[in-house]
Amino acid sequence: MKGVILAGGLGSRLFPLTKVTNKHLLPVYNKPMIYYPIETLVKAGIQDILVVTGGNSSGDFLKLLGNGKQFGLKHINYTYQEGEGGIAHALSLAEHFVNGQKMVVILGDNIIQEDISSQVHHFERQFEGARLLLKKVPDPERFGVATLRGKKIVEIVEKPKKPKSPYAVIGIYLYDAEVFNFIRTLKPSRRGELEITDVNSWYLKRGVLEYDFLKGFWTDAGTFESLHRASNLVARHEGYQAS
Ligand code: G1P
Repeated sequence: MKGVILAGGLGSRLFPLTKVTNKHLLPVYNKPMIYYPIETLVKAGIQDILVVTGGNSSGDFLKLLGNGKQFGLKHINYTYQEGEGGIAHALSLAEHFVNGQKMVVILGDNIIQEDISSQVHHFERQFEGARLLLKKVPDPERFGVATLRGKKIVEIVEKPKKPKSPYAVIGIYLYDAEVFNFIRTLKPSRRGELEITDVNSWYLKRGVLEYDFLKGFWTDAGTFESLHRASNLVARHEGYQAS
């Protein structure tokens, strides 16, 4: 299983914090934001990791992370996203690295508490398709939202004005390598980006989309409010092991 961390973008919702640096290099409590998704993957047993970066200060990722020794890694792979093509565009840059295998994709600003090893094992046993992680939230309109019927997802809507459920699709996606063939056919959305929700909806239509619920805390960190919440959650969480 490969790991892909998406850490590009302009971070415009955090301007001016992101005027001269990349969002994923900003601090979340006592560590740079990018440490958290790396730790999430490493805890789940994933050693072969690609960081897709771009925008400001992309060279600083290399300076900060090097070969990943502080995470127990032998090597980290890097690639560069030109421009602002959206999450699915950033993922398309991982095709060569993934090389036909299954992968865990994680948005670089998603911070979770739980060890996702069991969800990764579920996906290893899944014959094909994709697997999403869902979390009940008080503000689903900020996210991709999944409507459930029984054990199945029946619809996913990106940032709905009137969410039909409280279940956010969090920014950790498990995909098979078919994802790259679909992204090639994707057209930009109204905001000019290749949307990850369109990718997930494609798996849904094909009947090969599964999900697990995430326990423990989850937050994104792409707005002032959520960045502040992320620091507080990490600082307050009992048993949190600062590395
Ligand atoms: C993105 C996705 C959204 C997902 C969220 C998780 O939103 O488009 O579906 O729920 O990440 O963090 P963005 O943070 O780009 O607004």
